[in-house]
Amino acid sequence: MPEQYLEEMKQLLNEDYDKLMKSYLELPKKSIRLQLEKISVCKWERLCPFKIDPIPIVDGGYYIDIEKIGNHPYHHAGLFYVQEPSAMLPPLLVSLQKDFKVLDLCASPGGKTLALSNQVPDGFVLANEVNYNRAKKLLSNVERLGLKNVVVSSMSSDALKKIYQEYFDVILIDAPCSGEGMFRKDIVSQKEWSKEKIEQLSVVQKGLLEDSVSMLKENGYLIYSTCTFEIKENEHQIINFLKKYDFEIVDIGFDDYTRPGILIDPDYPTDKARRCYPFLYGEGQFMIVLRKKCQHGSKKIENCLYDLSMLERKIVDDFIGTNLIHFDGIIKKYQNNVIVLPHDMEIPKMTLLSCFVKMGEIVNSRFVPHHQFVKAYGICFKNQCILSISDERLYCYLKGEEIEASVSDGYGVIIVDGYPLGLFKAKNNRLKNHYPKGLRYL
Ligand SMILES: C[S@@+](CC[C@H](N)C(=O)[O-])C[C@H]1O[C@@H](n2cnc3c(N)ncnc32)[C@H](O)[C@@H]1O
Repeated sequence: MPEQYLEEMKQLLNEDYDKLMKSYLELPKKSIRLQLEKISVCKWERLCPFKIDPIPIVDGGYYIDIEKIGNHPYHHAGLFYVQEPSAMLPPLLVSLQKDFKVLDLCASPGGKTLALSNQVPDGFVLANEVNYNRAKKLLSNVERLGLKNVVVSSMSSDALKKIYQEYFDVILIDAPCSGEGMFRKDIVSQKEWSKEKIEQLSVVQKGLLEDSVSMLKENGYLIYSTCTFEIKENEHQIINFLKKYDFEIVDIGFDDYTRPGILIDPDYPTDKARRCYPFLYGEGQFMIVLRKKCQHGSKKIENCLYDLSMLERKIVDDFIGTNLIHFDGIIKKYQNNVIVLPHDMEIPKMTLLSCFVKMGEIVNSRFVPHHQFVKAYGICFKNQCILSISDERLYCYLKGEEIEASVSDGYGVIIVDGYPLGLFKAKNNRLKNHYPKGLRYL
């Protein structure tokens, strides 16, 4: 571990330093968080075939002890996300109203997007990730988890602030950081650590905080979190921000599992921030909630979602009539895609990787359903092939093979223990595999 880091931690933590050093001798525990819109805690505890141990504070958070959890069919079915406990906390710091509009500014790979999405079923989350390749990873998690109320973009905060003014009720900045809280889990973060990098990152963090100000509504909440212990990226960053903008720090609790923020400047006390350490809870996290007291002018947005033409609507309705039961999403068009919204909403003109749930496309006057639709609304398909995790055909399907089952001809969905996994197209009880190639078992 970097000498300079250890020296600084000794000064910062005093009597806690020995506990930190002891924690570095232990292995981090593996843990998951449930996709609560799909499965309740009760149902999961009845269904789960491996040993789980609930994580304190987080409803639907569990320690697990199983290898290669990413290969498990329930992971493919989007029942949970692998996440360490302290990273589960930032989306839980504010009690969100169900119709809140939320911006997850630095969202990839999407662990916090999941927790935010679960809390705003009548609102939406704009999950943004500036790095395009990482944004694709974010999208694949949004799809796998079947999130219905999430829009994915890959833009800079500077570009976003030109589109959204006084728009979001909550903005989460889970900022890129020097990752000291990842040192136990990830040797690369130790190797990449340097004072120069901290300087560079603090400039990026400052930009993210400042760009968020005008996008947030008056009285809206700004949640700032990092997975580092470095005061320059945490308390100093916040104090400099508070000197410039009219925000107040909000109480967030969790006192039993965290330490207060470090006191740097008595005029700007930051003890309402919370710090997680590996000897207390999870791996490491700094988090604080600020409430905006100032006002900026809002701007009317120009909607980029369209109604389908009469002909398009007929093609989609024919598909629905033939293939679905109990379907009640709102259908619109975004570019060439037919999309489903959980409730009516407007989205401003901007480039998106995905806009709510991609239902499919109309190709040569026929409707072709998309994998994302199956993950979010697959349970609405009439034609289902229900497999349990002990059925060999499930693993053949996950490998991309054709399987046999007694189903109707046409489109249908593989359901694992009640949860949609992927699409097939059947003829004479042979199920042609439509599970996306990039997701199949190797
Ligand atoms: C700590 S990670 C986010 C983790 C994510 N919130 C989660 O819970 O899965 C920080 C992210 O910020 C992104 N990032 C880096 N520079 C950025 C910038 N200037 N603006 C926005 N995001 C940035 C990184 O690519 C990275 O994906």
